[in-house]
Amino acid sequence: MSTGHGKKVSIWVGSDHGGFEYKKEIIGLLKDKEIDAEDVGNFTKESSDYPDLAVKVAQAVSEGKADKGILVCGSGIGMSIVANKFPGVRAALVHNVETAKLSRLHNNANILILGERVSDPRILPEILNVWLGTDFEGGRHQRRLDKITTLEKKLYKK
Ligand code: RB5
Repeated sequence: MSTGHGKKVSIWVGSDHGGFEYKKEIIGLLKDKEIDAEDVGNFTKESSDYPDLAVKVAQAVSEGKADKGILVCGSGIGMSIVANKFPGVRAALVHNVETAKLSRLHNNANILILGERVSDPRILPEILNVWLGTDFEGGRHQRRLDKITTLEKKLYKK
Protein backbone atom coordinates (compact mmCIF):
# COMPACT_ATOMS: atom_id res chain seq x y z
CA MET A 1 0.00 0.00 0.00
CA SER A 2 1.40 3.42 -0.95
CA THR A 3 0.59 7.02 0.02
CA GLY A 4 0.10 7.99 -3.62
CA HIS A 5 3.55 9.65 -3.63
CA GLY A 6 5.31 6.35 -4.17
CA LYS A 7 6.10 6.11 -0.42
CA LYS A 8 4.93 3.09 1.56
CA VAL A 9 2.15 3.88 4.05
CA SER A 10 3.51 3.94 7.57
CA ILE A 11 1.19 2.80 10.36
CA TRP A 12 2.20 2.88 14.02
CA VAL A 13 0.46 0.38 16.27
CA GLY A 14 0.25 0.19 20.06
CA SER A 15 -1.68 -1.61 22.78
CA ASP A 16 -1.74 -2.13 26.51
CA HIS A 17 -2.17 -5.61 28.00
CA GLY A 18 -5.93 -5.43 27.31
CA GLY A 19 -5.31 -5.16 23.57
CA PHE A 20 -2.21 -7.28 23.26
CA GLU A 21 -3.70 -10.20 21.27
CA TYR A 22 -5.39 -7.89 18.75
CA LYS A 23 -2.16 -5.96 18.28
CA LYS A 24 -0.26 -9.15 17.48
CA GLU A 25 -2.84 -10.06 14.86
CA ILE A 26 -2.95 -6.53 13.43
CA ILE A 27 0.83 -6.38 12.99
CA GLY A 28 0.70 -9.70 11.11
CA LEU A 29 -2.17 -8.53 8.88
CA LEU A 30 -0.39 -5.25 8.06
CA LYS A 31 2.83 -7.06 7.21
CA ASP A 32 0.88 -9.41 4.89
CA LYS A 33 -0.28 -6.28 3.08
CA GLU A 34 3.34 -5.04 2.88
CA ILE A 35 2.45 -2.01 4.96
CA ASP A 36 5.28 -0.42 6.91
CA ALA A 37 4.02 -1.32 10.43
CA GLU A 38 5.79 0.11 13.47
CA ASP A 39 5.00 -1.76 16.69
CA VAL A 40 5.46 0.65 19.62
CA GLY A 41 4.58 -1.98 22.26
CA ASN A 42 3.57 -3.11 24.77
CA PHE A 43 5.69 -6.17 23.92
CA THR A 44 4.41 -8.51 26.65
CA LYS A 45 1.04 -9.20 28.26
CA GLU A 46 2.26 -7.62 31.51
CA SER A 47 0.04 -4.89 32.84
CA SER A 48 0.81 -1.50 31.28
CA ASP A 49 -0.78 1.94 31.26
CA TYR A 50 -2.70 2.81 28.09
CA PRO A 51 -1.72 6.53 28.12
CA ASP A 52 1.96 5.59 27.63
CA LEU A 53 1.19 3.68 24.44
CA ALA A 54 -1.45 6.07 23.13
CA VAL A 55 0.98 8.99 23.39
CA LYS A 56 3.59 7.24 21.23
CA VAL A 57 1.19 6.57 18.37
CA ALA A 58 -0.87 9.77 18.59
CA GLN A 59 2.22 11.98 18.75
CA ALA A 60 3.68 10.27 15.66
CA VAL A 61 0.44 10.86 13.72
CA SER A 62 0.08 14.43 15.01
CA GLU A 63 3.66 15.28 13.97
CA GLY A 64 3.38 13.52 10.60
CA LYS A 65 5.93 10.79 11.41
CA ALA A 66 3.24 8.18 10.83
CA ASP A 67 0.53 8.31 8.15
CA LYS A 68 -1.93 6.49 10.38
CA GLY A 69 -2.15 4.76 13.74
CA ILE A 70 -3.94 1.87 15.38
CA LEU A 71 -4.46 1.59 19.14
CA VAL A 72 -6.04 -1.21 21.14
CA CYS A 73 -6.94 -1.49 24.81
CA GLY A 74 -9.62 -3.47 26.66
CA SER A 75 -12.55 -1.19 25.84
CA GLY A 76 -10.88 1.24 23.41
CA ILE A 77 -12.08 4.09 25.61
CA GLY A 78 -8.84 4.98 27.38
CA MET A 79 -6.89 5.02 24.11
CA SER A 80 -9.56 7.27 22.54
CA ILE A 81 -9.45 9.77 25.38
CA VAL A 82 -5.68 10.15 25.14
CA ALA A 83 -5.27 10.05 21.35
CA ASN A 84 -7.85 12.77 20.69
CA LYS A 85 -5.91 15.26 22.81
CA PHE A 86 -3.32 15.59 20.04
CA PRO A 87 -3.84 18.27 17.38
CA GLY A 88 -4.64 16.85 13.97
CA VAL A 89 -5.54 13.46 15.39
CA ARG A 90 -8.96 12.10 14.53
CA ALA A 91 -9.12 8.87 16.48
CA ALA A 92 -12.22 6.72 16.02
CA LEU A 93 -13.37 4.02 18.41
CA VAL A 94 -14.72 1.38 16.10
CA HIS A 95 -16.86 -1.64 17.07
CA ASN A 96 -17.85 -3.10 13.71
CA VAL A 97 -17.36 -2.85 9.95
CA GLU A 98 -19.98 -0.11 9.58
CA THR A 99 -18.30 2.24 12.06
CA ALA A 100 -14.91 1.46 10.49
CA LYS A 101 -16.26 2.59 7.12
CA LEU A 102 -18.02 5.68 8.47
CA SER A 103 -14.95 6.77 10.42
CA ARG A 104 -13.07 7.02 7.12
CA LEU A 105 -15.89 8.30 4.87
CA HIS A 106 -17.16 11.02 7.19
CA ASN A 107 -14.41 11.70 9.74
CA ASN A 108 -11.22 10.97 7.79
CA ALA A 109 -10.09 9.14 10.93
CA ASN A 110 -6.33 8.80 11.05
CA ILE A 111 -6.23 6.54 14.11
CA LEU A 112 -8.29 3.37 14.40
CA ILE A 113 -9.13 2.41 17.97
CA LEU A 114 -10.37 -1.01 18.98
CA GLY A 115 -11.47 -2.59 22.24
CA GLU A 116 -10.33 -6.19 22.43
CA ARG A 117 -12.77 -7.04 25.24
CA VAL A 118 -15.80 -5.55 23.52
CA SER A 119 -15.59 -6.53 19.86
CA ASP A 120 -15.80 -9.75 17.87
CA PRO A 121 -12.30 -10.96 16.95
CA ARG A 122 -13.67 -12.74 13.86
CA ILE A 123 -14.35 -9.42 12.14
CA LEU A 124 -10.96 -7.88 12.91
CA PRO A 125 -9.50 -8.61 9.42
CA GLU A 126 -12.56 -7.12 7.72
CA ILE A 127 -12.52 -4.05 9.96
CA LEU A 128 -8.90 -3.51 9.02
CA ASN A 129 -9.50 -4.04 5.28
CA VAL A 130 -12.41 -1.62 5.24
CA TRP A 131 -10.64 1.01 7.35
CA LEU A 132 -7.52 0.89 5.20
CA GLY A 133 -9.40 0.71 1.91
CA THR A 134 -11.99 3.47 2.38
CA ASP A 135 -11.27 7.03 1.29
CA PHE A 136 -12.59 10.21 2.89
CA GLU A 137 -15.68 11.52 1.12
CA GLY A 138 -14.83 15.22 1.49
CA GLY A 139 -17.56 17.74 0.60
CA ARG A 140 -19.73 18.67 3.57
CA HIS A 141 -17.57 16.46 5.78
CA GLN A 142 -14.49 18.54 4.97
CA ARG A 143 -16.34 21.64 6.19
CA ARG A 144 -16.91 19.89 9.52
CA LEU A 145 -13.29 18.83 9.82
CA ASP A 146 -12.24 22.41 9.07
CA LYS A 147 -14.30 23.48 12.09
CA ILE A 148 -12.37 21.03 14.24
CA THR A 149 -9.07 22.44 12.95
CA THR A 150 -10.25 25.99 13.73
CA LEU A 151 -11.22 24.85 17.22
CA GLU A 152 -7.80 23.24 17.75
CA LYS A 153 -6.07 26.44 16.67
CA LYS A 154 -8.14 28.44 19.15
CA LEU A 155 -7.61 26.00 21.99
CA TYR A 156 -3.92 25.38 21.44
CA LYS A 157 -3.09 28.89 20.07
CA LYS A 158 -1.00 27.42 17.21
C1 RB5 B 1 -7.05 -2.23 31.47
O1 RB5 B 1 -7.53 -3.08 32.45
C2 RB5 B 1 -8.19 -1.42 30.86
O2 RB5 B 1 -8.67 -0.50 31.77
C3 RB5 B 1 -7.71 -0.74 29.59
O3 RB5 B 1 -7.27 -1.71 28.68
C4 RB5 B 1 -8.77 0.07 28.84
O4 RB5 B 1 -9.93 -0.67 28.66
C5 RB5 B 1 -9.02 1.43 29.34
O5 RB5 B 1 -9.83 2.19 28.82
